[in-house]
Amino acid sequence: MTKLSPHAHRKDEHVFLAEKFYAATQANDFDQVRFIHQSLPEIAVAEVDLTSQLAEQTVALPFYINAMTGGSPRTQQLNQQLATIARDLNIPMATGSQSVALKETELAASFAIVRQTNPNGVILANIGADVTLAQAEQVIDMLQANALQIHLNTPQEIVMPEGEQRFYWLDNLAQLVAKLPVPVIVKEVGFGMSHETLAQLMAAGVQYVDLGGRGGTNFVEIENARRPQHDLDYLTGWGQSTVESLLESRAYAQQLTIYASGGVRNPLDIVKALALGARSVGMAGTILHHLQTEGPAATSALLSTWRDQLKLIFALLGCRNVSELPRKAQLIFSPELLSYASQRQI
Ligand code: FNR
Repeated sequence: MTKLSPHAHRKDEHVFLAEKFYAATQANDFDQVRFIHQSLPEIAVAEVDLTSQLAEQTVALPFYINAMTGGSPRTQQLNQQLATIARDLNIPMATGSQSVALKETELAASFAIVRQTNPNGVILANIGADVTLAQAEQVIDMLQANALQIHLNTPQEIVMPEGEQRFYWLDNLAQLVAKLPVPVIVKEVGFGMSHETLAQLMAAGVQYVDLGGRGGTNFVEIENARRPQHDLDYLTGWGQSTVESLLESRAYAQQLTIYASGGVRNPLDIVKALALGARSVGMAGTILHHLQTEGPAATSALLSTWRDQLKLIFALLGCRNVSELPRKAQLIFSPELLSYASQRQI
């Protein structure tokens, strides 16, 4: 077997460690939010329409497969399986960061497979915030991508043994957003966002944001396991949860288009995120876990069951579509979340 380059090896390690730390029943902040039950919703399940928008594209369902893989033979196979699922369900899919393919061009095939598998689907490219305009255009071309996700991941870089230590990103982000030919979604990778960050992004001309909050895959935990000393485990609680980030984003509901991800485990979590203002909801670790433990056919079947279950929950709430949810669904927050909101004055 040919030896993997360090970049390709890191991609495999991320997949292995994400699964190792995945805990199916993990409690998170979605449990701190409840819906108020209404006994007379005056609706039929068949009336529910789950059509939604992601970065100016119309798609069948209000959820998507978030950035994970590519960059090695193993992750090429995972990308192909994920792209098949995305095609079958007509949901968007992001690839993992393509920076490895900029450094080693022969790795581009492990990303391009996503477009080959799903020629007409909504596909998001993914890259860090420090790339040049030409590099960003290159990763978009690699996938004929409909949009570009730019990830912000300072805690991951800090803990990663070979991570970046310079974080001057904002001016470059503004340039990329202004000049790229496709919509740009700025995303976190599991540490959430504050309203201060959202204000900075808005001033830089950003329109689309994936809050990427804490509660699921934890890149401090993953990168700490890759450190020889394993000595930064005390940072594992860093960041805002996805629900906290959604509360942080409420003041920007009119100006920004908010997507939510991080710790989404099931259709009820999806509906909670939508009710809190997200226009669509991303999932990474949960889908990867099902894919690796049950295989592609079972994962595809599970997600189509989730499509049906989403309709049931929408009907319970008397909501006919995604835009009705934040207006109609009544939510109750736990004392901890209320305290968070009052300390942050949001
Ligand atoms: C990720 N994630 C990620 N995000 C990104 O923007 N670029 C990337 O290359 C990767 N790579 C990656 C690999 C693996 C194996 C996983 C599980 C995740 C982060 C991902 O898109 C998401 O933001 C977080 O995982 C939080 O969502 P979940 O996993 O809790 O649903």
